[in-house]
Amino acid sequence: MKPRTPVARISATARYLPERVMTNADLEQMVDTSDTWIRERTGIRERRIASRDTGAAEMGTRAACAALQKAGLSARDIDLIIVSTATPDRMLPTTSCEIQAAIGASRRCFAYDLQAACTGFLYAVTMAEGQIAAGRAETVLIVSTEKMSTIIDWDDRATCILFGDGAGAAVVQPSTNGEGILSSYHRSDGNLAELITRPAGGARTPLTADRLRRREHMLQMAGPEVFKAAVRAMSKASIRALKDAGLETGDIDLLVPHQANARIIEATARYARVPMDRVFMNLDRYGNISSATIPVGLDEAREEGRIGPGSHVLMTAFGAGLTWGAMTMRM
Ligand code: ACO
Repeated sequence: MKPRTPVARISATARYLPERVMTNADLEQMVDTSDTWIRERTGIRERRIASRDTGAAEMGTRAACAALQKAGLSARDIDLIIVSTATPDRMLPTTSCEIQAAIGASRRCFAYDLQAACTGFLYAVTMAEGQIAAGRAETVLIVSTEKMSTIIDWDDRATCILFGDGAGAAVVQPSTNGEGILSSYHRSDGNLAELITRPAGGARTPLTADRLRRREHMLQMAGPEVFKAAVRAMSKASIRALKDAGLETGDIDLLVPHQANARIIEATARYARVPMDRVFMNLDRYGNISSATIPVGLDEAREEGRIGPGSHVLMTAFGAGLTWGAMTMRM
């Protein structure tokens, strides 16, 4: 594929992380696990947990307001809101419409939710880019907000140690000086759907007392299979996104990968030949916040000065579906 002129750029990012910290020591009191096991197998030391009455829309609203402020925009400037979440506050209406009202966005704007699990942010940026290219929107607000603590079985040590709550937001606008999204590559494979599921609570399997008792409304995951598929998918997608952008690995200033497991990130970087000093990681502090990991990571990397104007950034993600993808951009 020939490298193309960017159509859209991420002009601002922001994040919201709940205050409450849950450490590995706290988890040792809840399930049969240890700080050593969690750190060595995942790289996670602690995660943030939202309060009972704080939902995905509220966390997303906080991140959204901060992103608009950084972009120097008002909510009235937004043409489109895309929210990625695997943990909407309610099944209806969409979290995007709730955020539209909460931030005071105009009724001229349209809003929808997008569900691609942990890959949701990259899918959303690609959707935003498409809407801008089609002339349907100039200013797109993307919010990735996840209250994973509500869908985790806190008695299942194989999953409850992995996840945390939080939100990231990004403003996507038309590209101006050649900066912006250089390539984006996405795939999914529904044949692997059973690897990560929440079996109950949908149209085919409504909630019943029996299903609730069997915790079928909670996240279930085949960890080791997901691990292998994640490394394969993210490394191949990264290599492909670099090729489509006409970039070499050496051109990349920072890889901002989905933060699921330090060993997954290290293996992905090794296969994609990105040295670890150019890989962003914050999962030691937040764990896996599903689709919020990349916008939160981008925002922290900007703040830490690891990326800035002119930087080339590679992002890659993987999640339930299975879904995966990679994206490159010049900032
Ligand atoms: N503490 C102590 N021991 C544990 C724990 C724990 N928290 N969890 C599992 N174990 C035990 C297992 O019972 C097993 O014991 P056994 O050998 O006696 O049977 C042993 O540790 C090894 O278990 P594995 O599952 O093989 O451990 P692994 O090294 O694969 O690590 C993990 C498990 C961390 C879940 C890993 O497989 C992983 O990260 N997978 C990917 C998860 C992921 O990326 N998910 C992202 C998608 S999520 C989404 O889309 C919403």
